[in-house]
Amino acid sequence: MSTDDIVRRFVEYFEERGHRRITGSTLLPPSGDPVLFTTSGMHPLTPYLEGRPHPLGRRLVNVQRCLRTTDLEEVGDPTHLTVFQMLGTWSLGDYEGPQSLDWGYRLLTDGFGIDPRLLHVTVFGGDGQTGPDLSSLELWQERGLPVELTVEDNWWDNGPTGPCGPDSEIFLWTGDTPPQSTPTGDDRWVEVWNHVMMRHRRLDDGSLVPLPQRNIDTGLGLERLASLLQGGRSVYD
Ligand code: SER
Repeated sequence: MSTDDIVRRFVEYFEERGHRRITGSTLLPPSGDPVLFTTSGMHPLTPYLEGRPHPLGRRLVNVQRCLRTTDLEEVGDPTHLTVFQMLGTWSLGDYEGPQSLDWGYRLLTDGFGIDPRLLHVTVFGGDGQTGPDLSSLELWQERGLPVELTVEDNWWDNGPTGPCGPDSEIFLWTGDTPPQSTPTGDDRWVEVWNHVMMRHRRLDDGSLVPLPQRNIDTGLGLERLASLLQGGRSVYD
């Protein structure tokens, strides 16, 4: 499948499920914005995740160019780039996490032909402020996928304050042997898709308050997915 075909299949899959495609934003955020660059597809959508109605509705899909300064130390390994494209989907206070995870699972397996036996997922196991993400855990157990529970690795934010929440990540086995260990235990498990249950806002004092609506924010790196589906050795291929 060519990289263009991957984009087309991704966007059409979500359009068929009621999502409207939005245009990617510039890498440079508006002045006054707290980040140096657009780091994720969710970033330009922050006002809408915080409750402002989006003109195209509650279900969105797009392809966003991103630059992550937090990833720069990892650039040069097989899976990280300085600038990359992120395929993303959003539920702005519409459907919940299990629906998003189920669509994601079906697209990876039925749509992109990935063998489900090569998948592993991670789920937020809970900390002192937020309980474990039981609805994601239940969905994955129903699908028969192995689950690893973590704390820091399954919490996503875009900085010290602002919208954030527990996430569930889908990993693909890239080793030459049958799958072994877990995503935190063996780096041949490569993360392909992150689904964030973005329903909290972190305040300056570190406390969490609920956002006005329960959102879902998902992202998967296009170059990484393409290299895996096309049998490349790295995102550079
Ligand atoms: N914001 C999440 C991420 O960047 C999902 O898109 O991983």
